[in-house]
Amino acid sequence: MTAAAPTIGIIGLGTMGLGIAQVYAGAGFPVIATDAHAPARETARARMADALNARITAGKLSETARDATLSHLTIAETLAEFAPCDLVIEAIVERLDAKQSLFRSLETILSPTSILATNTSSIPVREIAAGLAQPDRVLALHFFNPPTAMKLVELAPHATTATKHINIAQQITEKTGKTVIECPDRPGFIVNRCARPFYGEALALLSEGRSASDIDAAMLAAGYRLGPLSLIDLIGADINLAATRGLQAAMADHPRYHVFPALEAQVAAGHLGRKSGQGFLHPTTPGPAPADAAQIALRIEATLINEAHWLLSEGGTTAAGIDTAMKLGLNFPRGPFEALGLHGRPAVLATLSALQAAAPQAMKDRYTPAPGLA
Ligand code: NAI
Repeated sequence: MTAAAPTIGIIGLGTMGLGIAQVYAGAGFPVIATDAHAPARETARARMADALNARITAGKLSETARDATLSHLTIAETLAEFAPCDLVIEAIVERLDAKQSLFRSLETILSPTSILATNTSSIPVREIAAGLAQPDRVLALHFFNPPTAMKLVELAPHATTATKHINIAQQITEKTGKTVIECPDRPGFIVNRCARPFYGEALALLSEGRSASDIDAAMLAAGYRLGPLSLIDLIGADINLAATRGLQAAMADHPRYHVFPALEAQVAAGHLGRKSGQGFLHPTTPGPAPADAAQIALRIEATLINEAHWLLSEGGTTAAGIDTAMKLGLNFPRGPFEALGLHGRPAVLATLSALQAAAPQAMKDRYTPAPGLA
């Protein structure tokens, strides 16, 4: 990277911010980073060094590369030190007032051409931008956990984000080796939204009496690395419940984002998955695939395909972008549009139609085909 490389600011040095700082510093960008909490600032360099040393131990990084990455990191004590930044990414607490107030302060410090990016998972980007002098420089750069390992970054502009800022944020982030997929400022962006049916339809099957083993084994047989219930066990049922409730609230209680009692019961019982030692399947793994594995997989994929079409119909992204995001963000073997090609439209529509016919009245709209699918 040349001396003219853009300077990146990172605010919040927790789980996400420290990893995001490492991503840009590792690609040779000068990184200025801070955190409101003094111990987080004081330990940041050592924490990054530990993460880099673990990669050296694994044979994935040289000591020279570690030293170069650390040499690009400056820990700042004040926001005033962010003045040279071309792109500032905040990864602070998930609260609208905190993010707005931070961006308001930064506006008085940064040059008018620099970009303000948020790593929010659930707050509308337009709400964070509202009230700023230059809302057109605000966008989301949504990294996945852990940022150093996950290749995907969702880039969500809001309605008035300037194209030049979108392009610059994308170009800089692609130089770190990430795949940047543009998506609309809609709840859950692409991955957190389009993944809902993967879990939801599995929970529907569970509540109809299918075993967790049968459901997950069916998805393994269909090429998925983890079944939906094992994935909930990995993420944590509490985290999954919070994400589903967030989408349900943001989407006006639409039944496509229904919170199944089976998930609530799991959390109430403390069966959170790996972190609590007991989950839907954890500590066991799925048994052999059931005789109707293909139908189970088709049912889950039909609802994934439908959700992806609903998102596509709202604009701001592409079928190829959704497929790439779902593969990189969730390790899926294929994206929903590729799954449509595999099953064929008639089979998917027939599956949705049968599910709709069998669903109780309040849940029928869960299976209504999206405009581009029907
Ligand atoms: P975290 O709690 O690990 O870290 C947040 C850090 O921000 C803390 O060190 C805290 O001291 C600092 N902080 C809080 N308010 C601040 C302020 N006003 N100014 C400066 N520093 C401040 O949180 P995490 O998990 O890293 O999440 C950060 C953001 O990233 C949130 O918006 C979250 O929704 C989002 N996100 C989280 C993901 C995850 O898997 N944890 C994935 C993708 C996005």
